[in-house]
Amino acid sequence: MPTYPPEPFRIKVTEPIRLIPPAEREAKLKEAGYNLFAVKAEDIFIDLLTDSGTGAMSQDQWAAVMRGDESYAGARSFHRLKAAVEDIFGFKYFVPTHQGRAAENILSACLVKPGQYVPSNMHFDTTDANIRARGGRPTNLIIDEAFDPANPHPFKGNMDIAKLKAFIEKTGVDKIPFGMVTVTNNAGGGQPVSMENLKAVADVYHSYKIPFFIDAARYAENCFFIKQREPGYESKSVKEIAREMFSLADGMTMSAKKDAIVNIGGLLCMNDDKLFENVKNELILREGFPTYGGLAGRDLDAIAVGLYEGLDESYLEYRLAQTAYLSARINEAGIPTIQPAGGHAVYLDARAVLPHIPQSEFPGQALAVELYREGAIRGVEIGSVMFAYPDPDSGKMIYPKLELLRLAIPRRTYTRSHMDYVADALAKIKSRASSIRGFKFTYAPELLRHFTARFEPL
Ligand code: F0G
Repeated sequence: MPTYPPEPFRIKVTEPIRLIPPAEREAKLKEAGYNLFAVKAEDIFIDLLTDSGTGAMSQDQWAAVMRGDESYAGARSFHRLKAAVEDIFGFKYFVPTHQGRAAENILSACLVKPGQYVPSNMHFDTTDANIRARGGRPTNLIIDEAFDPANPHPFKGNMDIAKLKAFIEKTGVDKIPFGMVTVTNNAGGGQPVSMENLKAVADVYHSYKIPFFIDAARYAENCFFIKQREPGYESKSVKEIAREMFSLADGMTMSAKKDAIVNIGGLLCMNDDKLFENVKNELILREGFPTYGGLAGRDLDAIAVGLYEGLDESYLEYRLAQTAYLSARINEAGIPTIQPAGGHAVYLDARAVLPHIPQSEFPGQALAVELYREGAIRGVEIGSVMFAYPDPDSGKMIYPKLELLRLAIPRRTYTRSHMDYVADALAKIKSRASSIRGFKFTYAPELLRHFTARFEPL
């Protein structure tokens, strides 16, 4: 029986959640066109749609909110955040942004020209889209092990160094304005990148004089995995590991809604003087003055405190063990998940649960709907609804390799009994899996269709 350490906090403020009866759930599903994005939050019991901006802030963060300085320019809140960002990440310059994708937008606006390529282990979809929006071509060069859900490789987020070198040689340095790595790799199962790999990536980028940016949304979770799994890092603090990680890079983007445990916010850091000038101009145009970047002063203060709390090792130990616990309990119920468990989420193999549903009938969506039906639990499909597209030449549908259901765990929000409730619901689904049917679209927009599509059961 898997286990995990007790929550290193106790609960001072509560938010009620309500489990509506099965008949009501059925009605809500129908009303929503069987798309969980269209279900009201009040009709959801356990919400595992995302770990982004959904965490619980601490008493110190709420106290910091009250200290927020709402001055337009040069607020105390900005300077408190600046001190934390410099201490943890060590870059020469930074600006706040309203969230991660805003930092990606500004970086892409400043650096990406049409026809240029930006390599990474795997871009998150907003990064991918921001590069494309500037005419660029995001390119994923992750190790092959990442595509095998059962492979227990400890650093399945690693970049393939040989692929990276070959890619740069083939593409040409002048067509690569910067390179990236995402830690942890959300698009590939929340898997970490090793320090050894980050060093090798940095060496390759720098040997070609390509600036290296880290997508640091879940950097603290990644650093704790390094401490647990990478020889030589056992006795280093997570903060020391983070300093080493960022010393390899020329800048970073970050959604503070993850490892800074706030409900809104982002960061863009860099060392280059000229880039910083351009970033400030873009920022003023799109986000706000460089000392608030689209956020309220109180948000800046909450991030400044949350950044340190996200590095707390008793918290990180509990956090990663909670995810591993949910993953192990789901495996116990006979449902395979991406191995090893990621940092922030468990990714279920929907085709293994529903082998009778072909990809054209959306097994990931069928499992997501069934989990709501069974327990009013919300996850997100990462499969054919999100990623199947017709080939532009042949018109034939191209399906993704994996049909996944992601259950992302908000930080400091749910307890072990919530995790047990989710695993028990999945065990019930598994026992009646053969009677579950697939879906067809009744409406689907051309792009990003998972957000607004509607379905009908087959
Ligand atoms: N990078 C990564 C790795 C992410 O996971 C996300 C967001 C972003 C960038 C964008 O940040 O939302 O603050 O603009 N991921 C969320 C998720 C949405 O559910 O995985 P943002």
